[in-house]
Amino acid sequence: MGKKKVLVIGGGGREHAIADALSRSPQVGRIYCAPGNAGTAAIAENVSIKDTDVRALKEFALSNGIDLTVVGPEAALNAGIADEFKSAGLKIFGHSASATRIESSKEFAKELMFRYGIPTADYHSFSDYGEASEYVSSRPLPAVLKYDGLAAGKGVVVAETMEQADSALKDMLLDHSFGQGRVVVEDYLTGPEFSYMCFVSGRNVYPMPLAQDHKRAFDGDRGPNTGGMGAYTRLPFISEEDERYAFENILKKAACAMADEGCPLCGVLYGGLMKTPDGIKVIEFNARFGDPETEVVLPLLESDIFDIFDSLAGGQVPSSPIVWSDEATMGVVLASKGYPGSYAKGFEISGTGDVSGKIYHMGTKAGEDGRLLTAGGRVMMCVAKAPSTALARLKVYEDVEKIHCSNLFHRNDIAKSSSTVLSGKVLSVKMKDEMKEQIVALEAKYGRRPSLAVVIVGEDPASQSYVRGKIKAAEYVGMDGKLIELPATISQDELLYTIADLNSDGSIDGILVQLPLPSHIDSNKIIEAISPEKDVDGFHPTNVANLWIGEPCIVPCTPSGIMKMIESTGVNPKGKTAVVVGRSNIVGKPVAKLLLDANATVLLAHSRTADLGAVTRQADILVVAVGKAGLVNGDMVKPGAVVIDVGVNRGADGKLHGDCIYDSVFPKASFVTPVPGGVGPMTITMLMANTIECFIRRMHNC
Ligand code: AMP
Ligand code: GLY
Repeated sequence: MGKKKVLVIGGGGREHAIADALSRSPQVGRIYCAPGNAGTAAIAENVSIKDTDVRALKEFALSNGIDLTVVGPEAALNAGIADEFKSAGLKIFGHSASATRIESSKEFAKELMFRYGIPTADYHSFSDYGEASEYVSSRPLPAVLKYDGLAAGKGVVVAETMEQADSALKDMLLDHSFGQGRVVVEDYLTGPEFSYMCFVSGRNVYPMPLAQDHKRAFDGDRGPNTGGMGAYTRLPFISEEDERYAFENILKKAACAMADEGCPLCGVLYGGLMKTPDGIKVIEFNARFGDPETEVVLPLLESDIFDIFDSLAGGQVPSSPIVWSDEATMGVVLASKGYPGSYAKGFEISGTGDVSGKIYHMGTKAGEDGRLLTAGGRVMMCVAKAPSTALARLKVYEDVEKIHCSNLFHRNDIAKSSSTVLSGKVLSVKMKDEMKEQIVALEAKYGRRPSLAVVIVGEDPASQSYVRGKIKAAEYVGMDGKLIELPATISQDELLYTIADLNSDGSIDGILVQLPLPSHIDSNKIIEAISPEKDVDGFHPTNVANLWIGEPCIVPCTPSGIMKMIESTGVNPKGKTAVVVGRSNIVGKPVAKLLLDANATVLLAHSRTADLGAVTRQADILVVAVGKAGLVNGDMVKPGAVVIDVGVNRGADGKLHGDCIYDSVFPKASFVTPVPGGVGPMTITMLMANTIECFIRRMHNC
């Protein structure tokens, strides 16, 4: 079978991303873009036909044997391109004009949502200026006014004052600036917004990863609304449950509603959603891919996009499940100075060949001498993919610096707050849930569960609370936790006997003695008395020695927890520089050894190093375990570093602080652990992991 010819309608970044995805398909031979831009010209043949010139596009498709057409912009859909192509026997991925009403008519969309119980803001619609104005003035501000028709993204006004509302209503209903349409007045909702796009054919709905765009022109969400200044995937504020809810109750429901109404969808359904205090609600539907969301979503697609488009356009299901990468993407738009207002065009752009990520062109053209020139408001978008949003963000901003043009600007805070917090709390819950299942399986195999004995001497409140946390965690994962409470007056010998009993007790797998011990007891003697095979803290000299010589051993809990947290960032220590500040036997030294074992170059630093900043600034991975509040500030951190703060200090304010000044380190690092809630919860979790390990080893030796 010959390779396919595909026509992409449109000429923005979205269409460049669609053409890019198509170019990865083994089934696609040739791609045409109408009208395309200087970016699509490198992977497709640009055809200079306007996206709404349906007749000319149809003739082009017929005379060039186009196998499949994919539509980007809503204007083309609204102009009836899908109906026209289908009646000419041409295959097209894009909705009929009547289905496109879900985007083009606010009133149609609102009525549909109310009829089918799809959550959205309450509304009233008006054609009379006087009635609209009276209604708005009777209600609390801000007022949300939506022109009922396509208005090139300018038909929505969120009016803070009655004057603004009135002038917008006049514009829409008296002066008919956008046409003869009605106005929908909606309740004002609050919460973060996000975009949920799905591939749809009739009642078959296939979700894409969620994305969020940044609509305002300037940093800090200030300035006028634009078409979008950047976007990213992997939204920190949306849970899997939220996503499932939105899929079932909004996207899937809307697709079925449209089929019930006799105007089934065939194309992309885009839910512009908001997570309000009352749940997720629809702000708007679009009948097409979002821009700039598409530029960050499609690079994650691992399946053949031609197969998806072609089967859905033919009313079939894709031949194999749609697979998405679990990496994160983010992208930053470079726009002409003055955008979204008036701006000049024709400025030379250089450096696009030097970037490491992708560039999607939005408004560019090739000059006669082959130079690349600006040709629109939004000019191009730098996009990168990485194991985490924070890493993708670093790559993109490095790329942005490589692009030179005297008339471009960009936002510096895209996805800024998305993934910087490295929470041991979240990770430890996930790990403990995995252990729960593991323990059920172990009990089925060996006839009993792992068990941990925790010994506490005396009444120290902090120690009491630590041991309770440990017993609670043991119960949570389903192992036996035995608490042995001894009075502060107990002699060293009596404590040694207790440990000897636990060593020989076949039903105990792990032994932990809570430190510190009363001053009349020598802690080293006690640690040495615990059998190395049951030493779940990993402090016994045999375990310490085995760690350093690379023999099997029990690794101390905090260092192994730190390694798990680093692993969860996606940053591989191999070949990186790691700096560990603080040289204790229970954190600093073992974590340095573990980082060495992970093939990092490791510097183990004293907290009183003359110029500590000069050392810490070399760190791609910085671990600080000293116990001195305020030791590390943002100036001492390499941009993009992973910062693990192990320090716990109670400040004069009575609150717990780390060794790092969180607010100053946070904007510099790509990941930073909070205190509390960072490393602490991982220590207990690794204690559970060590107990399981001791159990498994003993069962194997039996
Ligand atoms: P739209 O053009 O429909 O995407 O609307 C533009 C922006 O107006 C949205 O992204 C929201 O930020 C805002 N908006 C629209 N409807 C509402 C609403 N009911 N409540 C609050 N903000 C809204
Ligand atoms: N990014 C918003 C839209 O495509 O409508």
